Amino acid sequence: MGKSKVARYRSTPGRQAMVRLVLMCGVTLLLVPSGARAGQDGVVANPYEGDPAARRAGAALYGTRCAECHGADAKGISGPDLTALWAVGTSEARVFQTIRRGVPGSIMPSSSAPENELWAIVAYLKSVSTVPPVEFTTGDADHGRDIFRSTCVRCHRVNGNGGRLGPDLSRIARIRSRAALTLAIRDPSASMAVGYRTVTLVTADGELIRGVKKGEDVFSVQIVDTEERLQGYLKADLGEVRDETQSLMPAFGSDQLSDDDLDDLLRFLGTLNVVQ
Ligand code: HEC
Ligand code: HEC
Repeated sequence: MGKSKVARYRSTPGRQAMVRLVLMCGVTLLLVPSGARAGQDGVVANPYEGDPAARRAGAALYGTRCAECHGADAKGISGPDLTALWAVGTSEARVFQTIRRGVPGSIMPSSSAPENELWAIVAYLKSVSTVPPVEFTTGDADHGRDIFRSTCVRCHRVNGNGGRLGPDLSRIARIRSRAALTLAIRDPSASMAVGYRTVTLVTADGELIRGVKKGEDVFSVQIVDTEERLQGYLKADLGEVRDETQSLMPAFGSDQLSDDDLDDLLRFLGTLNVVQ
C-alpha cells in the first residue's frame, strides 16, 4: 500500500459530546433479528456473512456512527484504517467485541446497539477489506524485541512497560503504514506525533525546560519534561514558550540501525498488534 496517511489521535471534550450525540440519533433499521451462530470450531460466526442486504444496512449504520472517526471509506481519520483489519488474521467475533466494548483508554466508544446491527457493521467492514498489506511479515521478531529493549523502551511503552516521553507503541503497527513507521524512526522531526511535539520553556530567569507539549491555552502550558514529569506552567511566569521543529526522539539513520535491524524491529512491532 503506498498510502501513508499519518492520522494522529486526538480527543477533545467537544468532539466526544458530538460523537455521543451522533450515537444517540442512530438510524433504525429493518434487519431480520438473528442470533450469532457458532461455527465448526465453536467460533462465533457472523449471521450475516455474505448477505448483501445486511451489508448495505451495515454501510448505512457505519456512515452515521463510525465514519466520523474512521472515514467514509473506512480508511481512517482520527481512528485507524479499518480496511486492513483482516490482514492480520482478526476474526469477525473479535471485531464485533471491539465495536461492542470500544477500546478503553481511547476515544473509540463502546456501543449498546442491538447485536444484529453490530453484525451488519462487521459484514460491511468485511466487504470493504483491502487485500492484506504484506507489511510486517519479514524480519526476525525476537531480534527486533532485543533492539527495542536496548534502544527504544526507555522512551516508549509497549504493553504497559517502558518510558513515557514518546507515544505508546503497542498498537502502532496497526495504525501506521510501514512507510510512515520507517520515516518516524529514520527522520523523527519530519512529522512529530500530536501530543509529543517538542517545546522549550524559558523561565523568567532564563532557565530552559524541554519536553513534549501536552496542552496549551492562553494562560498556561502543560508539558512532560525530559524527566517524564507532567508539569503545568502559567505563561505569566514564563519568559517564552518556544515550539521546536526538532523531535526529542533521536534520528536512527542506517549507520545506527541497519535496514535489516529496522526490518526486525518492525516485525516485532507487528507482533504486538492483536485486537483484545
Ligand atoms: C470518536 C471516534 C471513534 C468512533 C465514533 C468510532 N471509533 Fe473505532 N476507533 C477509534 C480509535 C481512536 C481507535 C483506536 C483505538 C486504539 O487502539 O487506541 C478505534 C479502533 C477501532 C477498531 C479496532 C481497530 C484495530 O485495528 O484494532 C475497530 C474494529 C473500530 N474502531 C470500529 C469502529 C466502528 C465499527 C465504529 C462505529 C460503530 C467505530 N469504530 C466508531 C475511534 C472511533
Ligand atoms: C529519547 C527518547 C526516544 C527514543 C530513545 C526513541 N523514541 Fe521514538 N519517539 C520519541 C518521541 C518524543 C516521539 C514523538 C515525537 C515524534 O513523533 O518524533 C517519538 C515518536 C516515535 C514514533 C512515531 C509514533 C507515532 O505516533 O507516529 C515511532 C514509530 C517511534 N518513535 C519509534 C521508536 C523506535 C522504534 C525507537 C528505537 C529504535 C525509538 N522510537 C526511540 C522519543 C524517543
